[in-house]
Order: sequence, then structure tokens, then C-alpha cells
Amino acid sequence: MNAPLSRQMLNLAQPTDDGWYERVREHLDLILIDHAHLEKRAASTALSMIFRYTGRAGLARQLSAVVQEEMDHFSRMLDVLEARGVELVRLEPAPYASKLVKAIRSEEPYMFMDKLLVAGLIEARSCERFAILSENVEDPELAAFYRELFETEAMHYTLYTNLARDHFSREEVKARLQELAVVEVEALRAGGDIPRLHSY
Ligand SMILES: [Fe+2]
Ligand SMILES: [Fe+2]
Repeated sequence: MNAPLSRQMLNLAQPTDDGWYERVREHLDLILIDHAHLEKRAASTALSMIFRYTGRAGLARQLSAVVQEEMDHFSRMLDVLEARGVELVRLEPAPYASKLVKAIRSEEPYMFMDKLLVAGLIEARSCERFAILSENVEDPELAAFYRELFETEAMHYTLYTNLARDHFSREEVKARLQELAVVEVEALRAGGDIPRLHSY
């Protein structure tokens, strides 16, 4: 992949530094467990938006595809864990998502815009991390799976930001996305170096 170009396309305020994989490589099982939980959470986020924003043009159809894809990722992660003899135990999540959720404004229609953009940024960071994992993990099957996830999560990022552009002006979306991208980097740092998909 052309990393700088892809990161630019993802609108991340700061790329993951080269040391991240070194910090997590000894804890791959924890990364896999964390990742499985995140797929389940991504499905839940899309489903809750379908419930909350009934009647918005195109939203239910597009997000129902996301729900299905995230649940497919989740069940495939269960296969990955099972093949490695790793149990899907409860795991304290990185504070990343909860920090980002705090940045969502509480009045509509801004809440709607922020929910879409935050979901998009989480997809973008996951996508970037999957690219790093696909280039570094030794297991070729797992590397191929990460490569596939990189592509799907990039599409999800585009889908969420395009949904925001369907309902708000391009200028508004661009400005808010830039603000939230800065918060996203702070949220990443908040977890310190605990081994998680969204750790620093
Ligand atoms: Fe996913
Ligand atoms: Fe996704």
C-alpha cells in the first residue's frame, strides 16, 4: 500500500508511529481479543444509529450492510481465536472510544453529524492499524485477513463521512472532521501503551 497517500485519504491528524507494532507484537493474543470485541461494538454502533435515525434517506440501507459486515468480521474473529486456542475473555477496552464519544455534541442535528464522523474516524484508525498488522504479522493467513479488513474498514470510513455529507454542507463536515481528528489523536494517547488495537 502507499501508506502516506492512504493516511491522507483517511483524514487522520497523525499517523501511527513506527513503534506501535513493536509495542504490541508480544501481545498479539490480546490484540486479537480486543479486535473481536471491537468488531462486535462496530456492529452495535451501526445498529443503534439505524434505531435512532429512522427515516433519514438511505441511512438504514447503508448501515444495515455495515452491521452485517461487522458481524461477519466478528464471527471470523471468533474463528481466528478458536484456531489459536485463545478464549474471548472480557478485556478492559482502551479509553479511546469513550473519549471520542465524549466529544459528540448533545444537540441535534450536531449529534447526528458527530456520531457519523466519530464512527468514521474509528473506522479510519482501525483501517490504518490493520494495514500495519497486515504488513507485520508472521502468519500469512492472518496477514491476508488484515489486508481484507483494511479495505472493508476504509469503505466504512468513506460510507460514514459520505452519510455526513448527504445531510450537512461539505464545509461544515470538513471543519468538524478536522476538529474531531485532533481529538482522535488525544483519545489514542489517553490509553498509554497498553496493548490494544487503539492504544498509542
Ligand atoms: Fe469490521
Ligand atoms: Fe468497520
